[in-house]
Amino acid sequence: MSRKTSQPLAGSPLGSPTEIASTARSVREMFEAVAPHYDFLNHLLSAGLDLSWRRSTADALRESLAKPRSVALDVCCGTGDLAFALRRFSRGRVLAADFCQPMLQRARLKLPHPSSHPVSFLGADTLLLPFADNSIDVVTSAFGFRNLANYSEGLREMRRVLKPGGILAILEFSHVRWPLFGPLFRLYFARVLPWIGTWISGVSGPYQYLHDSASRFPDQIALEKIVQEAGFTKVRYRNFMGGVAALHLAEKTAG
Ligand SMILES: C[S@@+](CC[C@H](N)C(=O)[O-])C[C@H]1O[C@@H](n2cnc3c(N)ncnc32)[C@H](O)[C@@H]1O
Repeated sequence: MSRKTSQPLAGSPLGSPTEIASTARSVREMFEAVAPHYDFLNHLLSAGLDLSWRRSTADALRESLAKPRSVALDVCCGTGDLAFALRRFSRGRVLAADFCQPMLQRARLKLPHPSSHPVSFLGADTLLLPFADNSIDVVTSAFGFRNLANYSEGLREMRRVLKPGGILAILEFSHVRWPLFGPLFRLYFARVLPWIGTWISGVSGPYQYLHDSASRFPDQIALEKIVQEAGFTKVRYRNFMGGVAALHLAEKTAG
């Protein structure tokens, strides 16, 4: 992403980190509008790469997921693609939470059978998770963290529910590091993607928001620092497609 002159965000640009309720309402309404086209546009606009990034995220968590009775929680789960990827490696439970019902409805439609429970989807706000302290082994978010009204509050809540030794994984848009590809990608992201997204979804706004929120989102190093400041250790990241997206991993230590 390009760095604009403005400061990196401390929360979704649809509102303010100090106006959590109204920002959350705007974010939820935006995803309600885009839900019917969300999966199709995701895969189209990323040429299917988004699926491989979520698979790689699950793969990076394989060891924790493979523990018997592990509990994984995918926050801001949307239509569930990361939760389903986690399921492939899990020998325990996979929970997935989002505060937008139309996104959750689409996720539930992807369950192999209505009565099967490979993933438990629930309505919940990431800033107020309905889980006990120290109860989850792995907390993940794919392209959801950027939309939180307040990033510090989000990290505080994700850390609260993680067990000591538990792993946090944040997959988000980031800063493209490849010199030639970078400008081309930024042109695509700023001009082509919002146009296609608006044309196909019939909703103006969300795909411009995608560009605006991603281009001002903290880059790899800045996000690493934010996660460290939230009390996590062993913070590291890996880039996908030269930094179009990055996966940050971190651990909650005791205390
Ligand atoms: C871009 S979508 C990502 C969905 C999914 N994780 C994926 O990989 O495609 C962002 C999701 O975050 C959800 N979201 C944003 N803020 C939230 C919050 N505070 N609590 C719960 N869900 C939230 C939205 O409803 C939306 O479904």
